Amino acid sequence: MTLYRATAPHGVRPSPNIWNHTSTYEIENRAVDPDGQLAAALREVASWRARTVLDLGCGSGYHLPWFAEEAAQVIGVEPHPPLVQLARRRTKRLPHVSVLPGTAQQIPLPDASVDVVHVRWAYFFGPGAEPGLAELDRVVRRGGTAMVIDNDGTRSTFGGWFRRGYPGVDPAAVERFWASHGWSRRSVDMGWRFTSRADLEAVVRIEFDHATAEAVLAEHWERHGEDSGGEGDSGLSVDYAVNLWWREY
Ligand SMILES: C[S@@+](CC[C@H](N)C(=O)[O-])C[C@H]1O[C@@H](n2cnc3c(N)ncnc32)[C@H](O)[C@@H]1O
Repeated sequence: MTLYRATAPHGVRPSPNIWNHTSTYEIENRAVDPDGQLAAALREVASWRARTVLDLGCGSGYHLPWFAEEAAQVIGVEPHPPLVQLARRRTKRLPHVSVLPGTAQQIPLPDASVDVVHVRWAYFFGPGAEPGLAELDRVVRRGGTAMVIDNDGTRSTFGGWFRRGYPGVDPAAVERFWASHGWSRRSVDMGWRFTSRADLEAVVRIEFDHATAEAVLAEHWERHGEDSGGEGDSGLSVDYAVNLWWREY
């Protein structure tokens, strides 16, 4: 990682959760949005049927096959070389999907070439991300839509954990940033649902520093009873609110 950081393209935000714990991050992605509220909100904001989708900061390409079910073309852009390889491997049987190395600040695509942009849990977007927004202005066609998903620290169980783990994130400043650039917000109650206590704990431990992770897990299991993780699913579902920021071009 040190070597990579020394040579990383400008603007790349280290993402230790997925860079260093790729298989646990896959478990996290599988636990996300178990009842499809976020998927439905994305579809309501923009249809990608027969259109060109860009998944910016696509990580290991988890969402690429889902977009590819309906889109004419899907492009994943990702700066971390091992994840580019994984995303390519995941989509190798999908001829209308390609994965390119690149960043939000320098999107490796021509002007006016994309209809729908999806950016999920990308810490490189938010206050200070004007260079990335300028790139969206360049690559998104007129009539296109960009959608960014991030954590809502103002509500939900996960939101409370997020506030504790990332006290430097100011929800009011985030809201001001997006509003000042003409973006709108939808609040989505997305949820996490795990199949085992071990999976939930592993994911919480890659998302938070040690002290925060252990504290929120102890409180969580106390709230859901000592026998949680046994036969029932007590405590395996976590209410988790996100913001879907979006803008039409
Ligand atoms: C938390 S991961 C989310 C990955 C993926 N969107 C998902 O939901 O599975 C954030 C991703 O953003 C990538 N990233 C970091 N800085 C970036 C930048 N400046 N431009 C584009 N992607 C970036 C990281 O390498 C990482 O793969």
